Amino acid sequence: MSQERLFSKTYASGDIVFSQGDEGDCAYIIETGRVEVFVVDREVETPITTLGPGEIFGEMAVIDVGKRSASVRALEDAKLTVVYREQLYSRIRESDAIVRLLISVLLKRMRSSLAVESDFNSLDLLLSSGSGENLQEIQQKAVENLRLERDIMEAIEAEHFVLNYQPIVNLHTGKLGGYEALVRWNHPTRGRVRPDMFLGLAEETSLIVPIGLWVMRQACEDLAKIQKECDHEIFMSINISGRQMMVSSFFDDLMGIVKDTGVKPQNVKLEITERILVEGSLAVDWINRCRELGFLVALDDFGTGYSSLSYLSEFDIDNLKIDQAFIRKVTEDHKSRVLVEVLALMARGLKLSTIAEGIEEKDQLQICQELNIDYIQGYFYGKPEPYEDAIRHLNADFER
Ligand code: CMP
Ligand code: MG
Repeated sequence: MSQERLFSKTYASGDIVFSQGDEGDCAYIIETGRVEVFVVDREVETPITTLGPGEIFGEMAVIDVGKRSASVRALEDAKLTVVYREQLYSRIRESDAIVRLLISVLLKRMRSSLAVESDFNSLDLLLSSGSGENLQEIQQKAVENLRLERDIMEAIEAEHFVLNYQPIVNLHTGKLGGYEALVRWNHPTRGRVRPDMFLGLAEETSLIVPIGLWVMRQACEDLAKIQKECDHEIFMSINISGRQMMVSSFFDDLMGIVKDTGVKPQNVKLEITERILVEGSLAVDWINRCRELGFLVALDDFGTGYSSLSYLSEFDIDNLKIDQAFIRKVTEDHKSRVLVEVLALMARGLKLSTIAEGIEEKDQLQICQELNIDYIQGYFYGKPEPYEDAIRHLNADFER
């Protein structure tokens, strides 16, 4: 018999909503009335709780596809909103692995404390987010991420992060244009942790905010020192994440650092990624504020994923960083070369300077010269290196 699916149900006082041991495919929100939750053991009823308007019940069997852990009876005439499994299913699957881990821990604990026979094997299926991994793997990864998070927090306290500096060469003068500050992490037992291993998690958990603040201060302190040794003015590129931009004290913090270190805002280049620009007016305001205060703004990784050319007319930026994905193939792949050419031309028309990233070979450099690209960053001129090594580039004349 096919049952009609109802989105709300009414029960008269004394009606059973469902019984312990039933299969369950929906949870309920109480709109009016009250219900009693109780367990039955050898025909003896033991009340667990009574619930009223706004409260939810019947969620356990929905989440773990197990049997009803208790029975529910209306204590008064009650009107209930029905929440079907599909409504919860996709949300649970899309949630963070740690949240799913916690749900599963809680449900198992709850089931065992109720000591009512139930099977919740299907919990694995539900919580594994359909990724093909089993629940154990997911849990392991989630726990590992929590440990990594702990280590990041400890590293922030202990100042275990260091900055490496990669030279950016001005192609017109053959001199150093500036450096990009890149954060590195040397963990006492993990060893060198790859930036992509911890920056993503730091971004997710907002730990990027204290890390970013430290980076800004350290990079500006180093710029102040470096500038004294350099025979011309250079800039420092600092990567700013979306989370950092949204922190209300961002500009106060930055101005405090500028004041303390004595660097000029026009020598501090804030690198943001295109992804941030989807924030629309928030990003426009942020960039405008940078301009007012005199900072430079570069658009990082340009041309990968999130680009929209309309951004370039909406946002008042100084600098376009052409992503290394284009440069890598620029010598052998005609299409990449055309793209770099068009990007360089477009940037010039819009009065933006250009930085080509990922230059490793002379041939690539030559193409950049032909295309009148302003700055070059890449292994051809130098890798990211610790301060002491990176400063050898300060007054160098670079091969062109
Ligand atoms: P479910 O197992 O689907 O069906 C019985 C419901 O009773 C259960 O979901 C919970 O919503 C609720 N329930 C079970 N145990 C408790 C408890 N200890 N306190 C409150 N509610 C409970
Ligand atoms: Mg960058």
